[in-house]
Amino acid sequence: MEVFAEVVGSAGYLEVVPPIFEHIEVFQRLGPATDVVRKEMYAFEDKGGRTIALRPEQTASVVRGFAEHRPAVPYKTWYAGPNFRYERAQKGRFRQFDQVGVEVLGPYDPHLDAETITLAWRFYERLGLRRVTLLVNSLGSAEDRGRYVDALRVHFEENRDALSEESRATLAANPMRVLDSKREADIELVDAAPLMLDHLSDDSAEHFTAVTEALDAVGVPYTVNPRLVRGLDYYVRTTFEFAADALDASQNAVGGGGRYDGLAAEMGAPETPGVGFALGVDRTLLACDAEGVFAAPASAVDVFVVDATDGTEAVVLTDRLRSAGLRVDRAWDGRSMKAQMRAADRSAAVLAVIIGEDERASGMATVRDLRGDGGQETVEIGQLTDILRARLR
Ligand code: HAM
Repeated sequence: MEVFAEVVGSAGYLEVVPPIFEHIEVFQRLGPATDVVRKEMYAFEDKGGRTIALRPEQTASVVRGFAEHRPAVPYKTWYAGPNFRYERAQKGRFRQFDQVGVEVLGPYDPHLDAETITLAWRFYERLGLRRVTLLVNSLGSAEDRGRYVDALRVHFEENRDALSEESRATLAANPMRVLDSKREADIELVDAAPLMLDHLSDDSAEHFTAVTEALDAVGVPYTVNPRLVRGLDYYVRTTFEFAADALDASQNAVGGGGRYDGLAAEMGAPETPGVGFALGVDRTLLACDAEGVFAAPASAVDVFVVDATDGTEAVVLTDRLRSAGLRVDRAWDGRSMKAQMRAADRSAAVLAVIIGEDERASGMATVRDLRGDGGQETVEIGQLTDILRARLR
C-alpha cells in the first residue's frame, strides 16, 4: 500500500475513498451481460426498499462521484480497498479481495494511457517482481466496436451449432464475451474469429500507436494481444492486463485496466474521457511469495522489556518507552525470567531491558544486546530512554 501510494503520489494522484456499497444501478453500468453484474454481485434490499450492492470494483463509484461533484479536470485519483464478488472461491480468487488502483478523468491523450500503465509497471518493479508481463490491446471507439461486434456476430452465428451451449447464450447478449470462453468446444471458432485491431478507425489506430510508442519510449515491455478482452463492458480503445507468470494461468491476472470514455456521460456528467486500472493486492502478494521477493519479516519492536519482579515494572516501563517513541513489547502471564528471555529472542527485538529485584531497589535497569555479542550494561533508570535511543541509532 505505501509503495503504491508513493509511486502514484509522485505523479500527482490524490487519494479518494469510494463507498463500500452503492445503489445497484451504479454497478449495472459495468454491463448487463458481464459475469460481474449478472452473477457476482452481492445485492440486497435495505430497510428503505432500495436495492444496494457491495462494490465489485471501484471505477464505477469514482466516476459516479466525478459526475456528482464535477471536480476540475484532469481529475487524477487513486484508491485502495476491498471489493466483493460472488465467485467460486479458490486460490487467488476470493469473494472479498483488495485492489489498489487509479482513475483519471479529463484527458483523451494517449500519453495518459501510457502514464497509467507505466505507473503500474513501476509499482511491480518496486515490489521486486520480475516475472510480470504486460498485454495491451485496443477495443476501438464505440462505433468501431459496433462494427466489430457485427462482424463477430456474423462469424459466430454462421457456426452457431459448433459453439458450446454457454457461448450460444452469451452470443445473444454480447458476442465479444464469447471470445473469453476457454471451453474446449469453442477454442477453434474463437481462434478463427475476426480481430478488433483489424477493425479500428484511423483515429483509434493512431491513438493506439501513440500509446505503444510512449511505452517503447519509457522502456516498458509489452505484448500486443488482439485477443485481450476484459470482463467489464465500459472499455473503449486501450485495454491492458498484467499477468504474473509465477502464478497458475487461471488466476495469473494481477491487474488490468483501460479507457472508459463513455462512462462519465452515462453517469450524468458531460462527455469526459477516462482511463485507469486496478491491481489485485491478494494476487500480487501471492506472486511476491511465488517469486520469493520479500525479505524475512522485519521485527515489530526494537526493545523487549523483561520484568523479573512482580510485573508492575513492565506495565510502567513499556508505556514510558513507547511514549518516548520507541517500539516496545513484553511477555505476559508472569512467566519465568528464562521464558521471558526466550520471548525476547523470538520477538527479534534488538535490545532487552531487564529489571529484577536488585535493579528495582537501586533504580537501575540492565540493557542487553540481543543480536550482537549479547553484551550488557547496567544503567540508571532516568537515563534509560536516551541510552536505548543512542544504541538503536
Ligand atoms: P478487473 O480486471 O475486474 O478490473 O480486476 C482487477 C484485478 O483485481 C484483477 O486483475 C485481479 O488481480 C483482481 N481481482 C478481480 N477479481 C478478483 C477475485 N475474485 N479475487 C482476487 N482478485 C481479484 C477492474 O476491477 C476494473 N475496475 C479495473 C479498472 C480500473 N479499469 C479501469 N479502471
